[in-house]
Amino acid sequence: MTAAYIITGASRGLGAALFTALAAPERQLVGIAREGLPAEVVQQAQEKGAITEQIAADLSTASGVQTVAAALHELAIKPRRRCYLIHNAGTLDPMAFAGQWDDPTWVARSIALNVSAPMQLTDAFLRATVGIPDRRLLFISSGAAHHPYPGWSVYGASKAALDQFARTVALEQIMVQEGARVCALAPGVIDTDMQKQIRAADSEQFPQRERFISLKQDGRLQSPAEAAHRVAAWLHHAAFGEMAVLDLRDIMLSTASALE
Ligand SMILES: NC(=O)c1ccc[n+]([C@@H]2O[C@H](COP(=O)([O-])OP(=O)(O)OC[C@H]3O[C@@H](n4cnc5c(N)ncnc54)[C@H](OP(=O)(O)O)[C@@H]3O)[C@@H](O)[C@H]2O)c1
Repeated sequence: MTAAYIITGASRGLGAALFTALAAPERQLVGIAREGLPAEVVQQAQEKGAITEQIAADLSTASGVQTVAAALHELAIKPRRRCYLIHNAGTLDPMAFAGQWDDPTWVARSIALNVSAPMQLTDAFLRATVGIPDRRLLFISSGAAHHPYPGWSVYGASKAALDQFARTVALEQIMVQEGARVCALAPGVIDTDMQKQIRAADSEQFPQRERFISLKQDGRLQSPAEAAHRVAAWLHHAAFGEMAVLDLRDIMLSTASALE
């Protein structure tokens, strides 16, 4: 029986690194992004023996979410011992002070991608995977859920919403038979396109820009591969789901061996 891993935002950054880090024989990987996945990401996963599938879907739209929800249903029809969904796709937009947002559609699109899509796909996943003994839901959150960064009001609020959603669904899943394990995990700072976007931001709209430029210059960003290795180790850990909201940096401090 193959295990299934579904990863949103798997075309680049942390999601692409997770796609290849999780690849192994007897595993089916499903990667989602607006235009599908680059050939090299798929090839790397296949070379490690994984069965791969990709879905082109814009998760900021209702039709994109519906496409992925239908795919989750199809995926779960096969008998499986394990089915894991990683909600990774996300956006920082609008990176600007409230009162100065240029595009009136920004907020709705960001909330749709960062909050509504993970919520709706969680519902679809929990319905589709009833009876699979090991089901896990991982939400990629952010330290911005707890610390307010001027310029990131929508992003921080969206990640705080995800955290509270994860806490609540985790409690619900304890109350149902063969409930899923749930965790919202802040991954730390990773050297991806999102960090490039932060370093290119207007300092007036994101006053902490210099701090992020220094993190890059001082070599203090995790590579996507390092972060993916740690996230994947936690996803498979026996303690996954015991705490519904966690920061990868705290896990590294308290139980470094857990991530080896
Ligand atoms: N990088 C960091 O330092 C950092 C820190 C804390 C938390 N995080 C979180 O980690 C996650 C991954 O971040 P990252 O840095 O890897 O970001 P990234 O490099 O910007 O990649 C974002 C991914 O999301 C996908 N995506 C964007 N809009 C989408 C849409 N409308 N529909 C479907 N997919 C979409 C992108 O694919 P396409 O553009 O190809 O569609 C891409 O694969 C995010 O949730 C982010 O908030 C990152």
